[in-house]
Parts: sequence; structure tokens; C-alpha cells
Amino acid sequence: QAKSMELLRAHRAEQRALIFDGNPAAVERQHALGKRTARERLDLLLDEGSFTEVQQLTRRRSGGPHTDGVVVGSGTIDGRRVYVYAQDFTLFGGSLGEAHAAKIQKVMDLAVATGSPLIGLNDSGGARIQEGVLALHGYGGIFRRQVEASGVIPQISVVLGPCAGGAAYSPALADFTFMVRDTARMYLTGPDVVEAVTGHRVSHDELGGADVHGSLSGVATVVHDDEESCLEDVRYLISMLPRNYLEQAPHTGSSDAENDERPRLAEIVPVEPNQPYDMREVIAEIADDGEFFEIHELWAGNVLCAFARIDGHVVGIVGNQPLVFAGVLDGPASQKAARFVRFCDAFGIPLVTLVDVPGFLPGVEQEHSGIIRHGATLLSAYCEASVPRVQVILRKAYGGAYIVMDSRAIGTDLSLAWPTNQIAVMGAEGAVNVLHRKELANAKDPARLRSKLVAEYTEEFMHAGYAAERGLVDDVIDPVDTRSAIARGLAMVRDKRKALPQRKHGNPPV
Ligand code: COA
Repeated sequence: QAKSMELLRAHRAEQRALIFDGNPAAVERQHALGKRTARERLDLLLDEGSFTEVQQLTRRRSGGPHTDGVVVGSGTIDGRRVYVYAQDFTLFGGSLGEAHAAKIQKVMDLAVATGSPLIGLNDSGGARIQEGVLALHGYGGIFRRQVEASGVIPQISVVLGPCAGGAAYSPALADFTFMVRDTARMYLTGPDVVEAVTGHRVSHDELGGADVHGSLSGVATVVHDDEESCLEDVRYLISMLPRNYLEQAPHTGSSDAENDERPRLAEIVPVEPNQPYDMREVIAEIADDGEFFEIHELWAGNVLCAFARIDGHVVGIVGNQPLVFAGVLDGPASQKAARFVRFCDAFGIPLVTLVDVPGFLPGVEQEHSGIIRHGATLLSAYCEASVPRVQVILRKAYGGAYIVMDSRAIGTDLSLAWPTNQIAVMGAEGAVNVLHRKELANAKDPARLRSKLVAEYTEEFMHAGYAAERGLVDDVIDPVDTRSAIARGLAMVRDKRKALPQRKHGNPPV
């Protein structure tokens, strides 16, 4: 009895020491940088008292501090189970060795086995140099699990410090990547290597800070000023997502959206097709409580992607944004929307597509950077999506961009259009210039002739009912009824089931 009491006391002292004593200087340094410790972060992320830690005693085979620089386990967010790991920069700079990797892989396996989202809090110097190839092997095992878990459980990566070299592939493989300004940085090769190889001097932040990845590279999905707001936002995102591909996103009561008139919708959108407006205002009118969670807010602003609820059901909204480059589609916008459409499809989240698009962006740089490939990525994402889909055409829907933005031919379930819709191969001016080039060149008064021809073309081919008469639009609706029409449409197709073709997998252009 005395012997077992002694063992228990020693065990408790050891556990206390490894959790609370840590390395005070390293903790202080962490705090001085505006960073929290791994456990402080988990306290912010998870419901109070819900965290169950596993493998606290793990250490390197050759000895060393317990935990091996990563805290792993499970807890809840709004009462719903998630699995987490949080790298601890105060131990070996959070670097990843064999034991560290095995712990992360353990919670990944449990997350998949239980159908729970996985959230990784990254703050690490990368592969632990002293552990050599075992560290690299550890990363490989994490990446493979991430790929296998893709489309099974939502994966969220939060970068709260350095995340360099191979480590950066973990956030890149996740569904959503959050970064915090000033402290988070991601790159495959750091500033020293960049300078040695290219001669170009660049700071950590300029190379791979949160704003760079949030607005230029598109690697970061969401960017925050501090860890508190960042982790709060992760909680909000989780509240919008199903726990796995077999479950539904949480439904939070109905809001009588099916009978909700929104007079502001008629005011927000100017009738003149070239006048800009903020599509976010339209989304706010359509969404329950005007609330939505926008992803990639700072990147490819010409298209908007957001989660919202309509009548309590979570939907994914894709919208052209006339405020940025007139809402034209380019390479980054196509990639952004494609990935979002694929995520929604994988997790059974219905899609609502708000169309006001003048076309794809013309230009040498665009063509040379592969806009054809990127546009095809979006096209393929929509073609494959088997979730309920509603398209709303507000004004312009021209050319290839019309086809790509969830048109009837590529599988939308319900297409609605405002009376201001202009669905055509191209705008009237462009069409007249092509069709009547010779006539216009020989005309005495080409300006007068052009405006007459434009008026004729518009009347014949671009009137409000043109596409509806041909069955490509299901209904022309009053703008004020947009929210209710979408809600009714989604209710109509909620039980949609679509058999997928038998094959190993497709080969979409990515
Ligand atoms: N392997 C082993 N230990 C590492 C490490 C790694 N990859 N990265 C950091 N550490 C250790 C440091 O040696 C230091 O240990 P100490 O406290 O015993 O001195 C501790 O972690 C903190 O690192 P430090 O360099 O003091 O922090 P910093 O904030 O000044 O810099 C980094 C952070 C990430 C920029 C810097 O540590 C770094 O460049 N690390 C190497 C990155 C790399 O090349 N990784 C391999 C590629 S995958």
C-alpha cells in the first residue's frame, strides 16, 4: 500500500512538473512576442474544461522533456467533439521529431475513426534537425493521413508562429488555414536561403507573413490581428461545418425565410449593368440575420465565397463581386471558387451562386499564366458537385463565365434570374461590333448605326425572358423575393441524391 502511494505521489509530481513548470524563460519570450503557450491556446479554442489530453508522457527514445513539444487530445466546441494538436514552441522550438509526429498521427487517426474535425495549431521550427530523416518520415506520415482524411472530416490549420520547409504542406493540405499577423510565417525556404540563391533580401514577413499569404498567394484562408480573435473565428467556422461527410452541418432553427421580402435588394443593385455595387450587401440580405463567414476575404476579391445560413440551413455562397475588377473571373478567382465548391460538395453543403459576371479577364498575363486551366478547374468543380445547387443571375452572365457560374447545362438544380438579367455570348456592344463590322466600317454615321443595332440586339437577344423561354432559367423573380425564392428552392431540392460514376477517380485540372 505504502509503495503504491509513493508511486502515485511521484507520478502526480512528475505530471505537475511537466505541465506547469516548463521553461519559464521560453514562456516569457513567447508571451513577449504576443504569442500564447500551447495550452493557453487550447483553453481559448475549446469549451471550458472539455480538453482531454493524451500521450502527455511521450518523450524521445533517447530521453528529453515529456510531451516532446506538442500537446494533443480532444475537446468540444459548442459541445461538438473535435480533435486537436498544439505545437509547443517553448520545447525544442516546437520542432517535429519522431515522437512528436507519432502523437499528431495518433489524434489524426482518432479524428477519422470518430468522424470529428481536426484542428492543428502550428508553431514550430520545422523538422527537428537532430532527428534527421525520422523527422522527415514523421511529416510524410502526417501528410498522407491528411490526404486520406480529405473529404472525410474537415481539417483546419492555424498558423501561430513559424511554419517553414516541409511543415508548410500541412496547412496547405488542410481545408482552411488561419494565420495571425506579425507572428505567423510560412515558406518553403526562408529569407537566408532566398538571399543565398537569388541574391534578393527579403524579411520574414515580406516573404511569408499573414498578409502575403492572405492576399497574394492565397495560402491563408483567414487572417487575424491576434490569437484570441483568430481562435474565436475558428470556433465560428466549426459552428458552420458538419463534423464529417456523413453528417449535416448544424441546423439552427428556421427563420421563415420562405416568406421574407427584402426591399433593400432592389436598391443595392443598380439597373445599369456597368454600375458597381457590393455583392456582400446582397449576401447579407439573403443570409439569416445578415450573418456570413467569408473565406479568402483578402485574396481574389473579384469573387466572394462565404458560408451562411438560410432558414437555419448552412449553405455555401459563391458570388461575383462587381466592386472588384467589375466581378470578372481570373485565375486566382477561379481557383478560390473551385476549392470552395469542392469543399461544399464533399461535405454536403448546398451551393448558392450569385451571378453578375462580364466574363473572364482578357490579357496576355492571364493567358500565359494559364487562365484556361484555372477556369477549367472551376468548371470541373461545379460539374462534379452533387449537392443541391441554386443559381441566381442578377445582371450580367456573359460567355464562358455564364457557363462556369453554375449554369443549367453544368448541373444547377434551379436557376433564378432577376428582370435585369443579361444572359448572352457577350455584351451587346461587343456582339454588334463582331456581327456588323463591315456595315459599321462603311456607314456614314457609324455611331448612330451602332446604337440602333445595339438596341435591336438587346431587344431580341437580351430581354429578361430570353433564357427563361428556352428553359435555361426556371423563373424570373422580383429581386425583393430573392431570399424567399432561394429558401423555397433549397427546400425543394434538399433531398437530392445523385449517383456518381463508377471509376477510380477523375483527373480534374488543378
Ligand atoms: N530543430 C531543432 N531545434 C530547433 C529547430 C529545429 N528545426 N528550430 C528551432 N529549434 C530550437 C532552437 O535551437 C532553439 O533552442 P534553444 O532554446 O535550446 O536555443 C529553440 O528551438 C528556439 O529557436 P530560436 O531559433 O531561438 O527561435 P527564433 O524565434 O529566433 O527562430 C526559427 C525561429 C524557426 C526561425 C528558427 O529557429 C529556425 O530557423 N529554425 C530552423 C528552421 C528549419 O530550417 N527547419 C528545418 C526545415 S523543415
